[in-house]
Amino acid sequence: MAETKANNSGATDGSGYGDYDFIVVSNRLPVDRVTGEGGGNSWRRSPGGLVTALAPVMAKTEGAWIGWHGAADEVLKPFDHDNMRLVPVELSADDVELYYEGFSNATLWPLYHDVIAPPEFHRTWWEVYKAVNRRFAEATAESAAEGATVWVQDYQLQLVPKLLRELRPDLKIGFFNHIPFPPLEIFAQLPWRRQVIEGLLGADLVGFQRPSDSSNFLRCVRRFSGHTIKSQHVNIRTDDGDRICRAGAFPISIDVDQINQLAKSPEVIERARQIREELGNPKTVLLGVDRLDYTKGIQHRIKAYGELLEDGRVTVEDAALIQVASPSRERVESYRLLREEIEGAVGRINGTYDTLSNTAIRYLHHSYPKEEMVALYLAADVMLVTALRDGMNLVAKEYVASRTGVNGALVLSEFAGAADHLKQAILVNPHDIDGLKDAIMRAVEIAPGESTRRMRVMRRQILQNDVEQWSQSFLRALDGETLGKTAGSGNE
Ligand code: G6P
Repeated sequence: MAETKANNSGATDGSGYGDYDFIVVSNRLPVDRVTGEGGGNSWRRSPGGLVTALAPVMAKTEGAWIGWHGAADEVLKPFDHDNMRLVPVELSADDVELYYEGFSNATLWPLYHDVIAPPEFHRTWWEVYKAVNRRFAEATAESAAEGATVWVQDYQLQLVPKLLRELRPDLKIGFFNHIPFPPLEIFAQLPWRRQVIEGLLGADLVGFQRPSDSSNFLRCVRRFSGHTIKSQHVNIRTDDGDRICRAGAFPISIDVDQINQLAKSPEVIERARQIREELGNPKTVLLGVDRLDYTKGIQHRIKAYGELLEDGRVTVEDAALIQVASPSRERVESYRLLREEIEGAVGRINGTYDTLSNTAIRYLHHSYPKEEMVALYLAADVMLVTALRDGMNLVAKEYVASRTGVNGALVLSEFAGAADHLKQAILVNPHDIDGLKDAIMRAVEIAPGESTRRMRVMRRQILQNDVEQWSQSFLRALDGETLGKTAGSGNE
């Protein structure tokens, strides 16, 4: 990006407009800081699919990304990376505690995930959530060119669409919620439910993962706002005339090419072989890969696996379960408790069933680069995705994309959005431990012909719907294209 294009704020010419025609706004910037051997810092693109999907759009337009760079109390100037302008938003230590750990991850996250953990409602957290959302909106307003398209991401920033529209009515504003949108009866608990709904309605288009999320949202709009709704269109009366906000489902996917290429690379294939060897070449390798989060159903999976060992339906000689649990939100109380619970359960199971040469569960509290993840997917005969609630679950899709040999079995929770698309998985209700045990055994014992038949259909689905199609279809709809019939009309 040309250096002359921008100064610190993004606004250059006194017109009140910034330079960027396409702006993504998310809580986190899509880069991670890496410290080199000499101690100097540089930035590396984070592994998420979102940035992969949007990088080409960024490169084609004058694109900028606005977000937090991950450290508290640090002011950074905007900088260029990978053909993108990155505009860091500052968060103080208090903001991190009250807006990020508090309102985002201890109020909204549990509320939007079926109240699996009890949400906490604190007025001080709400005040800081509002203030930080305003800061993001202001940074965006300063950077956006006249008539620019802005795409706001996820539950941390639900007030940004309205705040931004007030500052810059000329913009086209989209919002995408990566996590579920709760049913009315649960959303109704939120003391600031009206403000959140009005915040989202500032967008021209609000996108969700599943049609059911979209219809939950429209029911909440009907109940908590005075606006009229027709199908997926909300008609918003303002002093300056009426405007429409539309809502629909746009299920996110993964960077299929990237996963495919890795799965075919000789180094990754060799690493997969090595992983199996290190496990003692058991008949069956089972795998779980999750952020260490209570929505993922890791406890249920481990309980079911422990019982299978107890019943003698699996043995440590024949089977090995690898559970990758990447560290997440470690200062939030419910996450700390969950870690203790899971590590206690794994310790008890391993203590009971391990032998000197075999371990029941290899528990890894780490994050790994994509190469290692794909090697793990290739090494695993059975993938366990047992989320209690999940907006989509991209791990399930990555497993399918990695299985270039068209084999392997996926046990998938019906409460993950991915279950809408991967119907040939072995679908489970993770709360039903006996059902979960039987599903795991079906996957362990699946006949090769059946696993290939199922995997072929799932691969076709994933290969045809990658993350670039997802972003394109959202942006086309934001541009005015009619919403598809399956997008969730609120009348289901
Ligand atoms: C989920 C959310 C994202 C979030 C990610 C990691 O996927 O939808 O918005 O960035 O978890 O969580 P973190 O709190 O570390 O950003």
